[in-house]
Amino acid sequence: MTLTQPDSVGPVENCPPPVAPGTPALQPTLPGQAYTDPAYFAAEQRSIFEEMWLCAAFAADLPSPGGFRTVTVGRESVLVVRGRDGGLRAFLNSCRHRGALICTQPHGQVRRNLQCTYHAWTYGLDGKLVAAPNLSDLGEIDRTAYGLIPVATTEWLGYLWVCLADDPPSFEDSVIGSVTTRLGDAQAIDHYRIDRLALGRRERYDVAANWKLIIENFMECYHCATIHPELTEVLPEFADGLAAQYYVGHGALFGDGIDGFTVDGSAGVETLPGLRAAQDRRYYAITVRPQVFINLVPDHVIIHRMYPMAADRTIVECDWLYHPGVIEAGTDLDRSVELFHRVNLQDFEACERTQPGMSSRAYRRGGVLVPAEHHITQFHDWVRTQVDSRRE
Ligand code: FES
Ligand code: FE
Repeated sequence: MTLTQPDSVGPVENCPPPVAPGTPALQPTLPGQAYTDPAYFAAEQRSIFEEMWLCAAFAADLPSPGGFRTVTVGRESVLVVRGRDGGLRAFLNSCRHRGALICTQPHGQVRRNLQCTYHAWTYGLDGKLVAAPNLSDLGEIDRTAYGLIPVATTEWLGYLWVCLADDPPSFEDSVIGSVTTRLGDAQAIDHYRIDRLALGRRERYDVAANWKLIIENFMECYHCATIHPELTEVLPEFADGLAAQYYVGHGALFGDGIDGFTVDGSAGVETLPGLRAAQDRRYYAITVRPQVFINLVPDHVIIHRMYPMAADRTIVECDWLYHPGVIEAGTDLDRSVELFHRVNLQDFEACERTQPGMSSRAYRRGGVLVPAEHHITQFHDWVRTQVDSRRE
């Protein structure tokens, strides 16, 4: 359940957890098996990660033609490459000859073509088959038919998003729609001009926990007072346990005496140009299912992308984005980055501590959600519906 706060940007003050009359205060979670069972995980890969739009690559990481990146999408390796025409494309990273991976490195740069290192079939940056040894006369072969298999793409917020589905869902409705639903205003995110921001820092976390534990943790703040001392200092309302995501449009207000979203509350860098006054001194958190978290603060934006590798392992890549002028000036970003890096470590440590409990007989039928976590029920219902739709 997500509530609309009448004052969409006002602080949450003494706000009791809203429980509709007749609703039990403790709601059930998913059973432990949903976090441990390889078959359940495979069903999630099929029904969620191979059907939805996923955030795959930071476009600026591939500045010139031939720049590539490989990324795990569901059970597939996807190859993202910058073409000669300057456009980004994505392909299944599988050779059309006998299936070898085309690119085995997580990122790199090729000069003109993509060449499979097994028998040297060679593909253009547009995916078309251009050469194959002992088949110099490729006239007999339909080079497009034997080209790399393309994957649907779109660029948004400076990232390339990909979707493996045969019939991808509307990006507007599914991705942009979820941001609008959270912020309550389709234009709110535009003021941050995220597609013009530059990468200040990137951290990669290898988390020994199921991807859903990471999402659930991000959605609630019941744990904030316990494990996030620095964050609750900067955002005092988080100490009350209600996550900003509980409300449509609400951003958590910086505390009195806090000058910036930094590890010690000292001033950050310059406020992003174009921000509305109501967005200053506030933190907004957005979950874009199934694998992106967007964190908005006045002087930077933090974007997390999750790549589930197994039922009990998830890679999380986290980017801190700043105005390009801040990066060009060589500004010290340590105190700015350190706040959410610590939050990440605190959160992931909690998720890793929870993962073993998922296979305990004590959690066979799951646990419970307190009122401040009731909105997670919606996420659980959604996962259950998706998985049930594609169980094999
Ligand atoms: Fe790629 Fe043979 S598998 S060239
Ligand atoms: Fe947290």
